[in-house]
Amino acid sequence: MANPAKSCADTVAATAWWRTGIIYQIYPRSFQDSNGDGVGDLPGIITRLDYLAALGIDAIWLSPVYPSPMADFGYDISDHTDVHPLFGTLADLDRLIACAHGRGLKVILDFVPNHTSHEHPWFLNARSARTSARRDWYIWRDPAPGGGPPNNWLSEFGGSAWTFDAATGQCYHHAFLKEQPDLNWRNPEVVAAMHAIMEFWFRRGVDGLRVDAVFHVMKDADFRDNPVNPAFHEGMDPYHRLLPVHSADTAEVQIVVAGLRQVAKRFGDRLLIGEAYLPFDRLAAYFGRAGDGVQLPFNFALIGAPWRAEAIAGLITAYEASLPKGAWPNWVLSNHDRPRIAGRVGPDQARVAAMLLLTLRGTPTLYYGDELGMAQVTVPRDRIHDPYEKNVPGLGLGRDGARTPMQWDGSRFAGFSTVEPWLPLADDATEVNVKAEKGEASSMLTLTRRLIDLRRRHGALNAGDYGPILAEGNLLLFVREGPGETLLVALNFGDEPLSAALPGASGRGEILLSTCCDREGEAVHGLLPLRPNEGVVVAAGT
Ligand code: NOJ
Repeated sequence: MANPAKSCADTVAATAWWRTGIIYQIYPRSFQDSNGDGVGDLPGIITRLDYLAALGIDAIWLSPVYPSPMADFGYDISDHTDVHPLFGTLADLDRLIACAHGRGLKVILDFVPNHTSHEHPWFLNARSARTSARRDWYIWRDPAPGGGPPNNWLSEFGGSAWTFDAATGQCYHHAFLKEQPDLNWRNPEVVAAMHAIMEFWFRRGVDGLRVDAVFHVMKDADFRDNPVNPAFHEGMDPYHRLLPVHSADTAEVQIVVAGLRQVAKRFGDRLLIGEAYLPFDRLAAYFGRAGDGVQLPFNFALIGAPWRAEAIAGLITAYEASLPKGAWPNWVLSNHDRPRIAGRVGPDQARVAAMLLLTLRGTPTLYYGDELGMAQVTVPRDRIHDPYEKNVPGLGLGRDGARTPMQWDGSRFAGFSTVEPWLPLADDATEVNVKAEKGEASSMLTLTRRLIDLRRRHGALNAGDYGPILAEGNLLLFVREGPGETLLVALNFGDEPLSAALPGASGRGEILLSTCCDREGEAVHGLLPLRPNEGVVVAAGT
């Protein structure tokens, strides 16, 4: 069942808070508006810290709050060491950090190393002349002979990854929007400037950084064309027409990552979370060698997985097997870039998914509102904001539907704002909200709280080993083992009842929690009956 070699490696540096901790992602535009402009802000988040502390999470990660023209809603930064007035002030951020710390919550900020805004003073200088001081801080190439982009690289947000700058007669590279020019990490001045930004935030007390699009930071030195993707077919995101082997996840990315970790180490080894959508065998490299990678390269496998017991069991096993010695796993169900879990699997299975996320081995990241079962919202055409949806329409890639306002109560604007919010609310916001779910014994919020509490109280869940037992039909059964305790997790992925045979010599156990919140303390012997869409955690008897 459990793997003794792995548990031994894991005891090395096992005290870091993020190993047993739960991270909660806040999309600041959508969490709490405090000044009646329909957009969330930092003072708003501060007023909700008590809610977050009571939920039982350990850290909040804020998507970018820096000055930005908002072409990509903050991921286009024009000043890395200040706060956009929409969100408040630097003093508000200092206060947020202090207030969070006062409640025992860590604060993680977004760090965007791959690109800046095209309005960043560095880029304004770079594009002012070929001879400008910051020219080489970005990636410039001559157009192809006869015109056109220098190579075939594609932007993740549609079209070429090159934009021609008429004033200086060259093209600049952008892995995302043309308003997000890529920095040239081969230039030591860029490295120093970006490290200084990390230091700035670490000195202000930030506990970690989520490193955006980290796998993009180094490109092929020779700018070779990317090969065609033979698996591409109509209906896929056009970015996947090519295999981005020369423009992303190059071997040299790890040099940059090691540099980031060195900075983090100078501040007591603050947490670095790397954002990279990669298969497990590629992702493993981001842990680095001998602790010089990021501590947590985001594992997005559950976000794209077919929601079937066997498929999920297979990916858990594959992920566990891919982890380098001493590496600590992590899991994500939803984020601001992908459809919400409740939208993908439906409200009933969202409860099973929450149990899965919070009982797996490894740090869970919970996306704001998923604790309520918030829906993926269909955003009417005239209210679409996301540039991805605007550039690549009709393929269901738009991200607005996962970024709608947090639902605090059943009032007109859900307690998020006093005015119409920047994105529409979900239709069911009058029922699916914190106030309505708070006192309800079987609500999604109650379930999430109880799962978090269970995870906190049981070392087997927050630090123990994982062992697969069975994935058959709609049943997924696995074990978590810690000193002196063995917990079984049984999940029914279907809408028919089923029974799971309890493993172990006695076949006895006691239910600690059901996703229906109504079987605590129930003794089980031999067969464990599961209702449709039910998951349970069982303390195995001896
Ligand atoms: C990943 C971020 O999560 C996404 O929201 C953003 O658009 C891109 N990186 C570009 O920064």
